[in-house]
Amino acid sequence: MLPGILEQARTFLKEVIPEGGTAVDATAGNGYDTLFLTGCTGPEGKVYSFDIQQQAVDNTAFRLKNAGAEAEIIVSGHEHALHYIQEEVIDAAVFNLGYLPGSDKTVTTTPDTTIMALEGLLKRLKKGGRIVLAVYHGHTEGKVEKDRLLAFSEALSQKKFQVLQYQFINQKNSPPFLLIIEKK
Ligand SMILES: C[S@@+](CC[C@H](N)C(=O)[O-])C[C@H]1O[C@@H](n2cnc3c(N)ncnc32)[C@H](O)[C@@H]1O
Repeated sequence: MLPGILEQARTFLKEVIPEGGTAVDATAGNGYDTLFLTGCTGPEGKVYSFDIQQQAVDNTAFRLKNAGAEAEIIVSGHEHALHYIQEEVIDAAVFNLGYLPGSDKTVTTTPDTTIMALEGLLKRLKKGGRIVLAVYHGHTEGKVEKDRLLAFSEALSQKKFQVLQYQFINQKNSPPFLLIIEKK
C-alpha cells in the first residue's frame, strides 16, 4: 500500500536528519511529531518545538517526559522561530497545519504567520535539508492557507529548491496533502 501522508512525512524527514542533528517542530500540538524528531536526532541532537497554546506545550512536555526524551519547547509562534534557534543550520522542520485535535478549533495556523515562519526557516535550512508541511484545507482558513502556500512554493527558485506535493487525488472531502521543500 502507498504510505499515508503522515507516515510518508516521517520518511521524508528521517532521510535528512542525522544523529546529532537539529530539527524543528513548528506546530507542537500533542507532541507526536516532536517525539518523532527526538528519535531522529538522538540524545546528542537538538529539537525545537513551537506552539502558541499552553495546552499544546503541556501535552508535548508530558509526552516527551513519558518517553524519556528531551526537546526545547517554546510557547511562541513559529514566525519568531529564528529568535530562538541558536544553530546556524537546521536539518529539517515539520509543520502540521490547522488546529489542535480535540481543542479550540478557532486557534488555527494562519497563512501570514506560516509563510513568515517558512521564509525564516528556509534561510537556515542546510543543503539537502527538508521542510515538510501537512496541509489540511477542509476548513475555511485552511483553504486560504493552502492557496497561499501553493503560490509561495511554486514561486520558489527552481535553482535553489525542489518542491514536491504528495497527495491522494481520488479521496473525498478535501484530503490533506504534503508539501516538501528541499534545499538544493
Ligand atoms: C494540527 S496541530 C499540530 C499537531 C502536532 N504536530 C502533533 O503531533 O500532535 C496544529 C498546532 O499548531 C498550533 N499553532 C497555530 N498557530 C501557530 C503558530 N503561529 N506558531 C506555532 N504553533 C501554532 C496550534 O496551537 C496547534 O496546536
